[in-house]
Amino acid sequence: MSVAIITGASSGLGAEYARQLSTKKRVDEIWAIARRVDRLEALQKELSTPVRIFQMDLTEEADMDRFRETLEKEKPDVAYLIHAAGFGKIGTYKQIDRKSSMNMVRLNCEAAVDITESVIPYMRRKSRIIEIASTAAFQPFQGLNVYAASKAFLLRYSRALGVELFGTGITVTAVCPYWIKDTEFIPVAGETKSTAIKHFSFASKKKNVVAVSLFFSEKGFPVCTPSIISSIHRVSTILPDSVLQLIWSGLRRL
Ligand SMILES: NC(=O)c1ccc[n+]([C@@H]2O[C@H](COP(=O)([O-])OP(=O)(O)OC[C@H]3O[C@@H](n4cnc5c(N)ncnc54)[C@H](OP(=O)(O)O)[C@@H]3O)[C@@H](O)[C@H]2O)c1
Repeated sequence: MSVAIITGASSGLGAEYARQLSTKKRVDEIWAIARRVDRLEALQKELSTPVRIFQMDLTEEADMDRFRETLEKEKPDVAYLIHAAGFGKIGTYKQIDRKSSMNMVRLNCEAAVDITESVIPYMRRKSRIIEIASTAAFQPFQGLNVYAASKAFLLRYSRALGVELFGTGITVTAVCPYWIKDTEFIPVAGETKSTAIKHFSFASKKKNVVAVSLFFSEKGFPVCTPSIISSIHRVSTILPDSVLQLIWSGLRRL
């Protein structure tokens, strides 16, 4: 019985990956991970594929230990690991409290490594790992500093892991979307007056991001930029960081 393990399945991209994998009948069961169990129950009712609920805080060692015990006991055949849990905060180092900054690193970096390395032993040829990074990974972002740095970590981690897994038939795809408006990411990220990003222009839709990234993952690409804007951003990294930072100062006022 093949399984897709999806973190962040209670909303946004994670829930959408569950929907699209279920519609395409790619796996026999979905293991849905998040803290809000009511949302996971709603997803369970919505999908035709059986959904197993794991109410977990991925930054809690005890929750991860329990999950590892389940893996060890059940030895699932994991066809997909999709790490979509993540959050960002908009603001400078003065405006974001220390705890939020630390939690961003814990979830976006530490938990990504923890869940990935816990699950790899249960994967086989043609299994797919999808790590949700961001275009924020492509350059330093003042006013989004810790978040962008955490996604740069995830992008580098994913790419090197993909090479380490060469020959196993397991591929790793780092997905780097630009803003997506129809998830809870932007409300959670909040805004502070002095660093306000005005309109989140050129935002994508979660359906497209998920469909395009599943295609890229199927083809074994190490990086997926799922829109024109994110692809332009990736190409623009030939410019020095200082130039990109200057462009960002203007862009966020649009
Ligand atoms: N939306 C954008 O503009 C955008 C752009 C680029 C990249 N991304 C990335 O895309 C990924 C998905 O974000 P989204 O847009 O789908 O946002 P979202 O709707 O806010 O989803 C975030 C998910 O992460 C889960 N989560 C947060 N903290 C957690 C924790 N400690 N333990 C377990 N689960 C946790 C949340 O579930 P619970 O609260 O129920 O735990 C939720 O399901 C993130 O990594 C984000 O950085 C988003």
